[in-house]
Amino acid sequence: MKDAAPRPILLSEYRAPDWRVEALELDFDLDPDATRVQSRLRVRRTAEAAPDAPLRLHGRDLERLRLEVNGVAPAGEALVEDAEGLLLHGLPDAAEIVIETRVHPAANTALEGLYASGGNLCTQCEPEGFRRITYFPDRPDVLTRYTVRLEADAARYPVLLANGNRVAAGALAGGRHYAVWEDPFPKPSYLFALVAGDLACRSQRFVTRSGREVALEVYVEHHNQDRCDHALASLARAMRYDEEAFGREYDLDVYMIVAVDDFNMGAMENKGLNLFNAKYVLASPDSATDDDYVHIESVIAHEYFHNWSGNRVTCRDWFQLSLKEGLTVFRDQEFTTDCTLFGVKRIDDVQRLRAFQFPEDAGPLAHPVRPDRYTEINNFYTLTVYEKGAEVIRMLRTLIGREAFRQGLDLYFERFDGQAVTTDDFVAVMAEAAGRDLSLFQRWYRQAGTPRVRARSAFDAAAGELRIDLHQHTPPTPGEADKQPLHIPLRMALLGGDGAALSGRLGAAPEAREWVLELTGAEQSFRLTGLREAPVAISWLRGFSAPVLLDAGQDATELAYIATFDDDAFTRWDAMQELLRRAVIARVQGAGDTSQDDPGQRADTGQSHTGQSHTGQSHTGQSHTGERHTDEGHTEPADPAQGGYGQRSTDTTGTGQADTALETLIREAMAALLQNTVEPVVLATLLELPAHRELLEAFEHADPVAVYAARQAVERAVFGPLADSLLQQQAALAGVDDGAFTATAMGSRRLLNRILALRVALEAPGAVVDAARQYQQARSQTLRMGALEALNDADTRQRTELLAEFEQHNRNDALVLDKWFGLEAGSQIPGGLERLERLLEHPGFRWSNPNRVRAVLGPFMAHNHRHFHQADGAGYQQIAGYLERLDALNPQTAAALARPLTRWRRLDPVRSARMREALERLAARDGLSRDLADVIQRALADS
Ligand code: BES
Ligand code: ZN
Repeated sequence: MKDAAPRPILLSEYRAPDWRVEALELDFDLDPDATRVQSRLRVRRTAEAAPDAPLRLHGRDLERLRLEVNGVAPAGEALVEDAEGLLLHGLPDAAEIVIETRVHPAANTALEGLYASGGNLCTQCEPEGFRRITYFPDRPDVLTRYTVRLEADAARYPVLLANGNRVAAGALAGGRHYAVWEDPFPKPSYLFALVAGDLACRSQRFVTRSGREVALEVYVEHHNQDRCDHALASLARAMRYDEEAFGREYDLDVYMIVAVDDFNMGAMENKGLNLFNAKYVLASPDSATDDDYVHIESVIAHEYFHNWSGNRVTCRDWFQLSLKEGLTVFRDQEFTTDCTLFGVKRIDDVQRLRAFQFPEDAGPLAHPVRPDRYTEINNFYTLTVYEKGAEVIRMLRTLIGREAFRQGLDLYFERFDGQAVTTDDFVAVMAEAAGRDLSLFQRWYRQAGTPRVRARSAFDAAAGELRIDLHQHTPPTPGEADKQPLHIPLRMALLGGDGAALSGRLGAAPEAREWVLELTGAEQSFRLTGLREAPVAISWLRGFSAPVLLDAGQDATELAYIATFDDDAFTRWDAMQELLRRAVIARVQGAGDTSQDDPGQRADTGQSHTGQSHTGQSHTGQSHTGERHTDEGHTEPADPAQGGYGQRSTDTTGTGQADTALETLIREAMAALLQNTVEPVVLATLLELPAHRELLEAFEHADPVAVYAARQAVERAVFGPLADSLLQQQAALAGVDDGAFTATAMGSRRLLNRILALRVALEAPGAVVDAARQYQQARSQTLRMGALEALNDADTRQRTELLAEFEQHNRNDALVLDKWFGLEAGSQIPGGLERLERLLEHPGFRWSNPNRVRAVLGPFMAHNHRHFHQADGAGYQQIAGYLERLDALNPQTAAALARPLTRWRRLDPVRSARMREALERLAARDGLSRDLADVIQRALADS
């Protein structure tokens, strides 16, 4: 970090490779301490390359044992060694290169390249791990056919796997054995994988649409054999779905998934041999919650879908990462929507986007979906590349229609099969299929920041016309001051007096009940004609048709009407979110004295309560007047001129009090919803408050503890008087199906947990006892965890006992123990910093395992506002110390966990200074990894 920052890699400097690799043979002599790797590659200069163009072979931390070009070791000027690896000069147009390297898997704690995990050996190559195994042109646009021979001790590593099909295997002298694997599909090095281990295999057959038989195999440690059924079933469902929804069929005879305990990410799509974080494979009803089940299914689907969107058609360079990730996230979202969660999936995804991607896009790490520079590519596996990238694909579909979109996808896979391409290529194919010019749309890939859209309308009763005025504006992001207008699809409808959608016409199009307005300039007007009655409410941005911050200037009554009647599940939920958001903002602006004006307020018991929703965000709970920190609370609303969340003047009183009228209106709407027969899962989402992280975004400089307190106060004010209704709902759910993995059963469990958390937060009589009973009687992990989450901020005997019981019971089950780590770290009961220290001393904790580290540090930063954001900065300092320690072992994980420390500019002055100090302390350390240094540098940069 003290050294000059490494020079960034620029998209504008991209050059096609000068050399092709025509074939590659890899031979591994596997051993945890020292593995020998022999690589034999046939290379050929391309026709376009300069005749003297050298061959670049990337390599990192390699011990080189041998290097020969056509049987001769290059010497003198023929071989240049630099920080990136090797450059071979003076080669003939075609050559055979043989390289031998030695690597040390057991000492590899970065978990990139070849490493050891729980007695097994495995690899992780994306994005640049292959260069830690052998010298190679380690870039995604160099594709070749792999033949891989593995040799190892037969007793220690009975299972030997690599990509493709196994073509030979056998025993060798000295208790060793070997296997040879051939992958018929050319692939870039980042998709290479091998596994050697003592693993059990659970398998199932799958017959593809065209009648090909495929063996589906899941490899796990022997004691986990009974936790594989869900993974196998999910894989088969995803394969069938890809055939039916996208016309994509699998192409090899075997599809393997291996569960690995130590893994930096969620999972990896290596051709025919996916490697998975064990967390996203293993499930049984007594260990995994509904969210775990859904998540496992979607990660398995995601990696499977990559076989086409990523592997058959891959990325030209890493700037194009969203080409495969955005598209594949879109595909897995569609799958979960159609097969598992239906309407609520969109709500969950938008919630996540707003809580995580919007802040990223508004902070120091903001970057376009297709970045044009990076210093460490590991740091670009971001919410922007993934989730905003998926939104961009979804908008394309909204703009060109489902049919053209599907044709465009077919054309994309057909035309680019076996190639490495760009996001421009993708959009061009879509434009061709739709017969439309999408050049303006391309800006979504190139420009960072979340656009603000302002919508206003006026109804002309005499003409039966609604005039709509739209305005868009994107605030500056680091290094990008001037923003251009984007091509924004705004899906909308008009609700009439009975809640039904009105019909009318947009321009010359036929009469319809829903329209897509295409905003392309900074300002634009539209006219809906042929309206036979005045709309009571406008349902804007249906299905969240674009990732924007919308200011539609709607009053609370209109929003309540939408929340009650809209048939679009997203818009309905969103209207309720907007009401709640306004109520919280009003309370924050009233900073401080809420006691006289808060119907839900009770005497300070010194307790506070938090629950965690299915998304892992802090959702319920309360903190009392003592925590408002009014003297140092400097929470200011975001610039109202920018519209969006900052503009709240119409409904907030701004007088330093709660907006009682607004809270009453919300309560009445909630009361009606609780009485009606709303589907349980829909009700569960309507009862949720906007995430704390999302609420922080409404302020230019937020005091996170004050925002948290305001959120709790609104919750108490709205739901306190509804305690009886909540209890009735809870009672009605008493006979809930506590087993089935169906949308209905999961929805009821979600509602039950939400109501329980609310009641505990409200300190409703009997709530704590009810939570304890739910824990004791639960058959599913979902209801057990729901009870613990409800109790987690309640400093009660029940919490202490049940958490101890849970720890005792799951001590030897790392994945379940991680849930306990998360609860303890995330709890706001007093003594958070000491508790955090103690957790790191727990016998189940290991610094070398990313899941353990994330399970402790993640929830602490995400939920434990009181301690992480302690005003003296002790929480920030403690975290900075941990990050430094982690960085020495695992840079990628350290850099990912450092992100919450980058939002210092958006905090109140006191915390802002403290957080900045923690970052600066880290920045001053010697020997920081490039990964962590890059994040810190950007977080502290001035622009
Ligand atoms: N290709 C990635 C995995 C990856 C990313 C490996 C970066 C190494 C470095 C994989 O397809 C992926 O996107 N995994 C996600 C989960 C997915 C469901 C979005 C992950 O690992 O978080
Ligand atoms: Zn992916």
